Amino acid sequence: MTNLLRTHTCGALRLSDVGKAVVLNGWVNKVRNHGGISFIDVRDRYGTTQVFSGDEDAALKETAAALKNEFCVAVEGEVRARPPAMVNNEMPTGAVEVVAKRLVILSRSETPPFQIDEAENVREELRLKYRYLDLRSEAMQKRIKLRNDVTFAARSFLEGEGFLEIETPTFIKSTPEGARDYLVPSRLYPGQFYALPQSPQLYKQILMVAGFDKYFQIARCYRDEDARGDRQPEFTQIDIEMSFVGREQVLSLAERLMGHIFERTLGLTLPAQFVRLTYEEALETYGTDKPDLRFGMPLQDFAPCARKAEFRAFNEALDAGGAVKALVVKKDVLNGKEYSRKQIEELEAQAKIYKAAGMAWMKINTTGIFEGGVSKFFAGQEAAICAALDAGPGDLVLIIGGAKRKVVNTALGAVRTKLGHDLNLCNPAAFAFAWIIDFPLFEFNEEEGRWEAAHHMFSRPQEAFIAGLEKDPGAAKGDLYDLVLNGYELASGSIRIHESDLQKRIFSIVGFDPENAEKRFGFLTEAFKYGAPPHGGIAPGLDRLVMLMAGETSIKEVIAFPKNSFAQSPMDECPGEVDAKQLDELHLAIKGL
Ligand code: AMO
Repeated sequence: MTNLLRTHTCGALRLSDVGKAVVLNGWVNKVRNHGGISFIDVRDRYGTTQVFSGDEDAALKETAAALKNEFCVAVEGEVRARPPAMVNNEMPTGAVEVVAKRLVILSRSETPPFQIDEAENVREELRLKYRYLDLRSEAMQKRIKLRNDVTFAARSFLEGEGFLEIETPTFIKSTPEGARDYLVPSRLYPGQFYALPQSPQLYKQILMVAGFDKYFQIARCYRDEDARGDRQPEFTQIDIEMSFVGREQVLSLAERLMGHIFERTLGLTLPAQFVRLTYEEALETYGTDKPDLRFGMPLQDFAPCARKAEFRAFNEALDAGGAVKALVVKKDVLNGKEYSRKQIEELEAQAKIYKAAGMAWMKINTTGIFEGGVSKFFAGQEAAICAALDAGPGDLVLIIGGAKRKVVNTALGAVRTKLGHDLNLCNPAAFAFAWIIDFPLFEFNEEEGRWEAAHHMFSRPQEAFIAGLEKDPGAAKGDLYDLVLNGYELASGSIRIHESDLQKRIFSIVGFDPENAEKRFGFLTEAFKYGAPPHGGIAPGLDRLVMLMAGETSIKEVIAFPKNSFAQSPMDECPGEVDAKQLDELHLAIKGL
């Protein structure tokens, strides 16, 4: 090959290049042989160009005939206009072709396990095993490029705001943050372990003590938790921390960061300020702290209506201090769709997953009369109920009652989410951001019978709750916030505790005795003794952000080398066993093998 280096990419040539001598390098996307002549689509990450190989030159003819999909080739030739009948308007290079003078096979390919342009329809395991082929697909290349653009936009925005990107270690002390740690055994210190960071949380706070008042990092994080569509064992955060700020400065920075990223990469203008909901409002209105606000359909209080009727389950729920909530599926979102009993049962099954005992329903017919389900219990109350719920003819009303308010909200919220998807209310091109604020600081862990931090132990209680923390941990609201996008938690953050004493009180409420807390987090409380500034921060998940921008539902689609749902990488077969010698060096023996 030697000097057959590309002069142009496979996406570059246009009519204005006709007559030029060019060299293309790329992969054979498709080859069509007609007698002695061949049409070869040569692809690289910039596009595809058609190459014409004639039958006059025997060597050329022979090479062209030997080409197969995914061979890596160099083509030297001249650009010519395609005859009008052969112009392909779908391809940016579709008006031209390169007439080959020389064709060199740079490397051959075995028959690929799947067609590159059909990679998206291939079983995930195969895509991950041959990820390098999967990554050749246009869709993957586009998403990886988007990820690059988003990362770059984040860096340039933050740099412009005076932030410093500072790396923090990936071998750290195991400090519980919520999920399970990945551990790295120490060879030099038998029986001792490093942990991979679940996030750079403590280091970024210590950087604030160190005077780096505006920090960020495109940070790898590691969590040993079950995989889901939006979760991977290793993932990336745009990790941010700032000194001398309150909540408003952090929220504003994140809004401007998102605005910049969307503007630069998708050309979209986001609202200057995002909607805000308190945690309680989010739960009461949407049944979740990560509502999808691309559609409305709020949960409504049905208790007053339920009280006026003889439906026992509802009255019992209310007597027990619970709730009865309703969801009105409006005629216009139903859009002519009639929910059958079976489909309503499917919705009910969704509610039951979230621990609801059941779901009642009734339809409002064209004359405004309730029909089906529990309608007979509410006969005669149509006008009052319709007025209370803003419902009318053609609407479907779904109702859940229960002794536990949170269960009622969560279950009906799950029904709302399912309806959103089933009724196509979630426009993939729309981006509905919202802040969820005023989270409780602690949650009660029923299984372990103790309080635990709702976010993490370094979040600051709101001022009004500091004095009474120990007396009523459940009442304390934290100065913490989540950024939600299209039903996903995109970012979390908080104003932090910067006083050793308050930090120790929190450790003690969540059940770390002083000795244990000292052992695990002593370095942080020690650092706080040396003039720690007030500080706060936030960490948007980069993978989730790019996933949503790309209109995908799995972060695997925006990660070059993700793990599968079982935390394995089929391509390099990781995790894998190691040699006995390696284990010996690490002073490890494997139990139960
Ligand atoms: P948190 O744990 O909420 O907060 O994480 C912040 C954001 O990171 C993303 N994320 C994940 N993405 C992919 N796979 C995962 N397993 C995963 N886990 C989390 C989400 C999430 O909103 N140190 C704090 C942040 C802070 O307080 O500044 C933290 O890590 O998008």
